[in-house]
Amino acid sequence: MTTPDTQSPSCPYSGVPTDHDGAAAAPAAAPLPGPSGPEAPVADWVTIPDLYRDPFPIYRRMREEAPVHWVPAVNRYMVTSYAACHTIEQDDEVFSANETGSLMKRSMGHSMLRKDDPEHRVERDSYGSTLRPGTIKNHWKALFEANNEKYLGELEAKGQGVDFVWDYAAPYAAENLRLVCGFHNATQQDLQRWSQTMIDGTGNYADDAGVWEKSARSSAEVDAAIDEMLPYLRENPDHSLLSGLASMPIPLEAIRANLKMTIGGGLNEPRDVLATTVWALLSNPDQLASINGDPKRYAAAFEESVRWVAPIGMYPRQVTRDTVLEGVQLPAGARVGVVLGAANRDPAVFEDPETFNIHRPRKPHLGFGGGAHFCAGTWVARAQVAQVAMPALFDRLPGLRLDPDNASVDAGWVFRGLVKMPILWG
Ligand code: HEM
Repeated sequence: MTTPDTQSPSCPYSGVPTDHDGAAAAPAAAPLPGPSGPEAPVADWVTIPDLYRDPFPIYRRMREEAPVHWVPAVNRYMVTSYAACHTIEQDDEVFSANETGSLMKRSMGHSMLRKDDPEHRVERDSYGSTLRPGTIKNHWKALFEANNEKYLGELEAKGQGVDFVWDYAAPYAAENLRLVCGFHNATQQDLQRWSQTMIDGTGNYADDAGVWEKSARSSAEVDAAIDEMLPYLRENPDHSLLSGLASMPIPLEAIRANLKMTIGGGLNEPRDVLATTVWALLSNPDQLASINGDPKRYAAAFEESVRWVAPIGMYPRQVTRDTVLEGVQLPAGARVGVVLGAANRDPAVFEDPETFNIHRPRKPHLGFGGGAHFCAGTWVARAQVAQVAMPALFDRLPGLRLDPDNASVDAGWVFRGLVKMPILWG
């Protein structure tokens, strides 16, 4: 893969700018005054353009130096060791998800992702069984299969020279999410537009009026779509998130914020992990051959891909009181980035961590987060990507390969995935 020199995605989960336009980056600032003891080293050599192009050499250097750095370019502490990230995930009293000044709250409202327990738990529970394995097996899987047929068929009809991400993975993931959410009054294209524009809002550190305008328009469209769907689903219940929420004592404001967060976070990740896994398998034909139609091996390839290139590379937390994390002092109020993309390649946990290897011994990675906010969509993502899309793809498109004359491009660090992936088959 090569990397582009443009594109500026940002992350719905973090609200951190991911582009390399200096104007859009958070301003550099000195660390808050810390308590006594060793303070985090300052990584003033880290730049957003470098992170965006290829964060992994940067993470390697940071991990070797210390588990936590103050990074002026990002205006927060970056936590890069597996042990330190894991500690944060398990301790929401010291590491709060309710970050102050969060642009995500402005763009999408105050969702469960930016709340701590017990408030968070009430809203998390309001998602009911929609995203759970039993509902996926009995209900969603067949719909994912039908969607996969449709978008694979369209890919085949377009013929050669198509882009795997934009002609297949994106519409497939968007259509799945549309049904799971319960937007029977919207299209997959609406979901893609809503998702991207609200995500752009969460990273709008430059306070660009045009970005806010688009984000606000999408937010209003989602509100209107929810207002229309709730009474309908109360009368005509189905298995969707909105249907379950229609009969729950959850304030409308929270329903809206949680759906917007789910639209922002439930589309790009399955799209990106699908493309990254297929890219990695096509680049490692011996590993692809070893799968040989075995569902367990597709599942292993999926998990290895989420470890290798965490689709959500970083998310934020805020320190509630002076603390020491893996020997490094952090003052109350400090804003930290939990860098899953780095933790998942920590050699203290994973042997030869920079290599994609579906045969590596199974160890828990942090790609889906952990603790109270562990990804609610993990099983939906596994089903649509590893159980449905991948086996059908390799079956239906014999000779599937990357276009040797048109290189794939991957990019990003808060979000990372393929932004271009031309393919051929036959
Ligand atoms: C491979 C695909 C995916 C990855 C890697 C992923 C990753 C994550 C991560 C790291 C978090 C925690 C963020 C934090 O703690 O700040 C999270 C939370 C969440 N994810 Fe996912 N996600 C994926 C797919 C999905 C899908 C498909 C959905 C919905 C259909 C979804 C819904 C959610 C929700 C609702 C939360 C918030 C949970 C809470 O606050 O309790 N995710 N995801």
